[in-house]
Amino acid sequence: MTGNNFSSKMETMDKKGYTPLEIVGKREWREDFFSLFFHSPLLTSSLRSGHFLMVRDPDAPTLLSRPFSMGRLFHDEGVFELFFQVVGKGTESMARKRVGDTLSVLGPLGNPFPLEKPGRILLIAGGRGISPFLSALPVLAESKRDYSLLYGAKTARTLLFRPFLADFPVSYRTDDGSFGQRGLVVDGLSQEVDLVFACGPEKMLERVALFYKDLPTEVYLSLEERMGCGTGICYGCARKVRTDRGVEMVRVCEEGPVFEASRVVWDE
Ligand SMILES: Cc1cc2nc3c(=O)[nH]c(=O)nc-3n(C[C@H](O)[C@H](O)[C@H](O)COP(=O)(O)OP(=O)(O)OC[C@H]3O[C@@H](n4cnc5c(N)ncnc54)[C@H](O)[C@@H]3O)c2cc1C
Ligand code: FES
Repeated sequence: MTGNNFSSKMETMDKKGYTPLEIVGKREWREDFFSLFFHSPLLTSSLRSGHFLMVRDPDAPTLLSRPFSMGRLFHDEGVFELFFQVVGKGTESMARKRVGDTLSVLGPLGNPFPLEKPGRILLIAGGRGISPFLSALPVLAESKRDYSLLYGAKTARTLLFRPFLADFPVSYRTDDGSFGQRGLVVDGLSQEVDLVFACGPEKMLERVALFYKDLPTEVYLSLEERMGCGTGICYGCARKVRTDRGVEMVRVCEEGPVFEASRVVWDE
């Protein structure tokens, strides 16, 4: 992390509830992955794995806000991380930011993973889907849970955070075999767990759901739906989900982003 002189700033909201936060650190990873660090004791202490934040660039007012999970939480310094991959205009603009610049942030939003449920836990992360588990791992370790992380990426170059992850039980997979076992994350799934929490590409989530479909394991997936407002107003994030009344369009930002796998309806 750079610029780790975390000066204390007043956290003041604008009319829409967004708080402008100064970037206090930046890390450029490889292959279009970046981390930005923000000083906010309030958010750092209230964010839970699976929550998300809407992020707006005050210098690009024409761009919609974008949703992001938080990455690592540095409780002693009151600092949280956003870890993201550049895929379009919003993330390109975020990647150009420097230490000292400001982004506006709204959150915590959504419902987090139910980490407190009893049983053996398997966390499954595909690519940038590692984000929410960077804060879950220390929580599970601290509470002495029986847990492990299965983390996969295309190649060793994009299998990030390995020094941080060295403190936790992690098995790695890469598509090309350049680190860990060769193959997809979904080829390494275990039946010997009671709870599964997964985040990653839609296809990976669908295959995780299918694998555990007829098993007693409870499976929770964080869905990466496109979002406009993040607060239930625009319906931009609506998708088909099973409810008590049948299949309905529900707002992922309000009812999710974490859903029980059995509720998710996959596209044909
Ligand atoms: C709850 C939640 C948490 C997220 N956490 C993270 C995170 O921690 N790190 C991270 O890198 N990204 C995360 N994302 C995804 C992130 O929001 C998008 O990558 C971002 O909004 C893209 O904005 P953009 O302006 O750069 O791209 P755009 O210009 O809006 O889109 C560029 C391309 O990406 C596709 N795209 C954009 N958003 C999505 C999406 N949500 N799902 C599938 N395809 C999409 C578009 O169809 C288009 O092809 C999260 C999304 C959600 C809903
Ligand atoms: S993003 Fe607007 S309703 Fe969910």
